[in-house]
Amino acid sequence: MRKLMILSILCLTTIALAQDGGTAAPGGAGARINSRGGIAAPGATTGAGARRGNRAGMGAGGFAGFGGAGRRGRPQPVYKYSGLALTPPMGWNTWNTFQRNINEDLIKETAKIIAESGLKDAGYQYVVIDDCWMTMERDENGQLVADPQKFPSGMKALADYIHGLGLKFGIYNDAGTKTCAGFPGGRGHEYEDARLYASWGVDYVKYDWCNTGSANAQETYKTFGSALLAAGRPIVLSMCEWGKNDPWTFAAPIAHLWRTTGDIASRYTNNTGGTAGYNNGWKDILDRQAELKLEQYAGPDHWNDPDMLEVGTRGLTYAESKAHFSFWCMLASPLMMGNDLRSMNDDILKILTDKEVIALDQDPLGKQGYRVIDEEGREVWVKELSDGDWAVCMLNDTLEDAEMSLAWSDLEVLADKTYKVRDLWAKKDLGTTKDNYSGKVVSHDAALFRLSPAE
Ligand code: GLA
Repeated sequence: MRKLMILSILCLTTIALAQDGGTAAPGGAGARINSRGGIAAPGATTGAGARRGNRAGMGAGGFAGFGGAGRRGRPQPVYKYSGLALTPPMGWNTWNTFQRNINEDLIKETAKIIAESGLKDAGYQYVVIDDCWMTMERDENGQLVADPQKFPSGMKALADYIHGLGLKFGIYNDAGTKTCAGFPGGRGHEYEDARLYASWGVDYVKYDWCNTGSANAQETYKTFGSALLAAGRPIVLSMCEWGKNDPWTFAAPIAHLWRTTGDIASRYTNNTGGTAGYNNGWKDILDRQAELKLEQYAGPDHWNDPDMLEVGTRGLTYAESKAHFSFWCMLASPLMMGNDLRSMNDDILKILTDKEVIALDQDPLGKQGYRVIDEEGREVWVKELSDGDWAVCMLNDTLEDAEMSLAWSDLEVLADKTYKVRDLWAKKDLGTTKDNYSGKVVSHDAALFRLSPAE
């Protein structure tokens, strides 16, 4: 059986590399053809990642299809388990709040809260340990070692605990020689690391980009994607290359999600207009998605990742947390909570578990929202949903609370149709788009609506 698997992997490699114009990823076996290529890995769905009609006028940017026929009708190689993220992944990650101050008690307590507080019911499932979980050196066999002080029971036991709660387990490493915090990176160890993660029961790997020198991002991530495939366990690959090499143009066959910018911080804006480095407000990152028109690259199983949530962290007001969450749902962003769930108040829990708002993010059509009005102090974003519905989000980008209005006829995407309007945060049906909206929106808050075709 094992021999058969190894043999299939080798065959797949040959096919994939041939299809790929013969560029071998360093050390790279294991790319997989699915859909029309006819060979799918366990857990794969056929053609799930194929690009689905982007909004009119976006042209032919992005992918012509993968997991299906490519531009010239040839099957495209896929370096990931297809079908694991048909809607944006949801979960929690240690980094934004805890950085290196992590241990197994924190992870277990947090997982328990997710399972019992309504978060799991709302869709959160991945519990992800970010950087700083390892010892500073690999062991004598070259294996990564979980820090015995922080994780005395070991990663397998922790994964079992998390799985026992009906949740999934995620871990972090880096494509370079060292992680961003200086722990052993994955470079040159991709296959053995992937096998180790699989043996622990890992379901999700975030793979960072520090200390990679002049490495080619596409080839490097292909190698790791292939290693995960070869390890034989369905694992989501979260690529964290900060948008440096335009991952949206090549990452869809490799990763289920890819970071688009530098690191998010607990603030509205850094007031520099930039999104590199470590200090970006969620509004800076939001602007960047619009500038790059990133909506054309996202879809089921391949998502832009504007970084993890800062909802409920210290640097944001309640309104800023609420608007941040609204916009991340408009973006069809992965929803990885980054706050301390043990001390979260009810208002924050209510934001994070709002099923009507999460439904925008998790809509099966998988369209990323985009900005249609950008004025001084006010902007409006729209997101197409299934069944002809639309989500509309209006931001008060000023320092003052304001009475704001929205003329539905300004939104061209609605054409001349009439829609019923629901105010999602107020939990109120407002009538139809025949009447313009006006209402108070607090500074840095957003009004969020779901529009459904009126009979
Ligand atoms: C980078 C990533 C962050 C986090 C840290 C860990 O900065 O972008 O999300 O993973 O590394 O060191």
